Amino acid sequence: MPLVKMKEILDHAEKNQYGVGAFSVANMEMVLGAVHAAEELRSPLILQIAEVRLKHSPLHIIGPSMVAAAKAAKVPVAVHFDHGLTEEKIREALEIGFSSIMYDGSHHSLEENMKQTIKMAAIAREYGATVEAEIGQVAGSEDGSVDLEGMITSVEEAKQFVAETEVNALAVAIGNAHGLYKGEPNLRFDRLEELDREVKTPLVLHGGSGISEEDFRRCIRYGIRKINVATATFNKVIQTVNEEAPFKDYFSYHERMIEAAAENVKRHIRMFQSEGRVEEVKNYV
Ligand code: 13P
Repeated sequence: MPLVKMKEILDHAEKNQYGVGAFSVANMEMVLGAVHAAEELRSPLILQIAEVRLKHSPLHIIGPSMVAAAKAAKVPVAVHFDHGLTEEKIREALEIGFSSIMYDGSHHSLEENMKQTIKMAAIAREYGATVEAEIGQVAGSEDGSVDLEGMITSVEEAKQFVAETEVNALAVAIGNAHGLYKGEPNLRFDRLEELDREVKTPLVLHGGSGISEEDFRRCIRYGIRKINVATATFNKVIQTVNEEAPFKDYFSYHERMIEAAAENVKRHIRMFQSEGRVEEVKNYV
């Protein structure tokens, strides 16, 4: 299976009513863990990295390894640039071969967000890449550096946004938050149901770490097709190596990092009901 456009993965998920995990990676071990997990469970996969993470994982090093892993995978894999903030980095990701990008203009006014999204979408389309954008504001920030209050997505604004920008996927804010939830997540399913009814574009849920299986299933029922997971993988890797330390050599540690990442990805693939979807349809793409 080749590297695929995220749109193909989302269209299949929409047609067959399931969710697909977009797993954030920070190193080669996480890339390998995520791909192994998806191959074992015959699930489509989205591998992603956010622009704020590039200070730890430089794009020119991690990007090509994500693309190479996708090309070699036995299941369809999209490689996605998460929370793109600058034209420079969005272009760099597209040049490396990322098959989709998110432009995050959620901190701007609606008008400015639409204007910038239209510009970035035009660049992405030169490369045949899929485009995700965000409206409303998901609480917290991708790297935990800002303690943003969330702002629930308005249905009218979402309709206008999608009509004017023609994005392929829309990230919505329904009480979800990046990082660990302070207490139980309290998702606005009433708003999600309305968004699903009115907005004819696959919806994206950021802040997947810490949401219950029951809530994930409800989100999927109401049109969420892409679910972002970062913190849960990072924490699973740390917890595993901390519990098992000291390691006798570097490579046993390296293998446990891969396995720990894979375990978290598999747990989410099962909750998102994307397990076994690759064999279900002969001509997946
Ligand atoms: P979590 O870190 O809460 O899983 O959020 C990930 C995310 O939404 C990346 O965009």
